[in-house]
Amino acid sequence: MNETLDIAITRADQSRLTVTDFSQLPFGKVFSDHMFLADYNNGEWTNLRVIPYGPVPMSPAISALHYGQAIFEGMKAYRQVGGKISVFRPEKNWERFNKSAYRMSMAAIPQDIFMQGIAALLEIDEKWIPSQEGYSLYIRPVMYATDPYLGVRASDSYTFALLTTPTGPYYSKALRVKIETEYTRADDGGVGYAKTAGNYARSLYPFAEAMKDGFDQLIWTDAATHEFIEEAGTANLIFVIDGKLVTPSVRSTVLDGVTRDTIIKLAKEAGIEVEERRVSVKEVIEGIENGRLTDAFAAGTAATVTPIGEIGYEGKLYTLPDASTRTVSAGIAKTLNDIRYGVIPDEFGWNWIV
Ligand code: COI
Repeated sequence: MNETLDIAITRADQSRLTVTDFSQLPFGKVFSDHMFLADYNNGEWTNLRVIPYGPVPMSPAISALHYGQAIFEGMKAYRQVGGKISVFRPEKNWERFNKSAYRMSMAAIPQDIFMQGIAALLEIDEKWIPSQEGYSLYIRPVMYATDPYLGVRASDSYTFALLTTPTGPYYSKALRVKIETEYTRADDGGVGYAKTAGNYARSLYPFAEAMKDGFDQLIWTDAATHEFIEEAGTANLIFVIDGKLVTPSVRSTVLDGVTRDTIIKLAKEAGIEVEERRVSVKEVIEGIENGRLTDAFAAGTAATVTPIGEIGYEGKLYTLPDASTRTVSAGIAKTLNDIRYGVIPDEFGWNWIV
């Protein structure tokens, strides 16, 4: 980081910490006392501030609401075993945030504002970082277009916000997922690789339909043929086939996940062969049937490493090996957590100690 930025701090009159039950933390429902905001006007970011968490006044004409110029990210802050506070790979999320901003014709956020905003917020809301094992403070950066204008063009003004929410893993059990072959999440040349609101909006209806059939999540397939696996929408997907880690390669329709990238690096370090390539539905289904596929999991910041227990495809349900036999994903998940919580040395320099 370069110069120290001028961030105005307004403290909440009263903390909600005392009335928050840290044993009941559904993902994304409980917010810490404060939030960070910055405004982009006339070509520059101004009004950097930490204020009490709460509603933000806005015109109902803002272009984010009408034309979907809205992007976000997800990171986690951990309370380490030695007491330090660490954020996992925030610079990767900053880079991806600006890739999304570029694709959505939005203003870029300077690294200093992103990082110093996080640091200021964590300093004031440090007590909101949970200490239970497997828990963390999820950090949600979001940027939205604020021009009150109904013409279709990129907005000239934006708000950048950082929210934080104490949380455990997004999923609490092995997942029953459906391979989706009717609806699509992303198309070549579209915005699938960007973390933009519309990608999530378009997934909600098919997701709700799948939930009615008892599924927890969808596995998206390519829009052209529905023959290749892409991602899960809330996470990337990783399989273990013939002892190798196999994951759909990142392309214009697949998010370049930070957890995915981290797992690939850890697997290689552990001497596990990794293949990033197109992964066909056929290969996965046949792999379950002939026993060559021994593990499958969702990998994401919110999802962490969540085993996939069952896969639904064309009306049939395929059961994967019991979670207790999943030595590859369990081993990687343990190493990953040990690094994040400071149990083992951070050889890759991934932890940003705040
Ligand atoms: C994250 O893992 O940070 C995400 O953004 C996934 C979220 C949509 C639940």
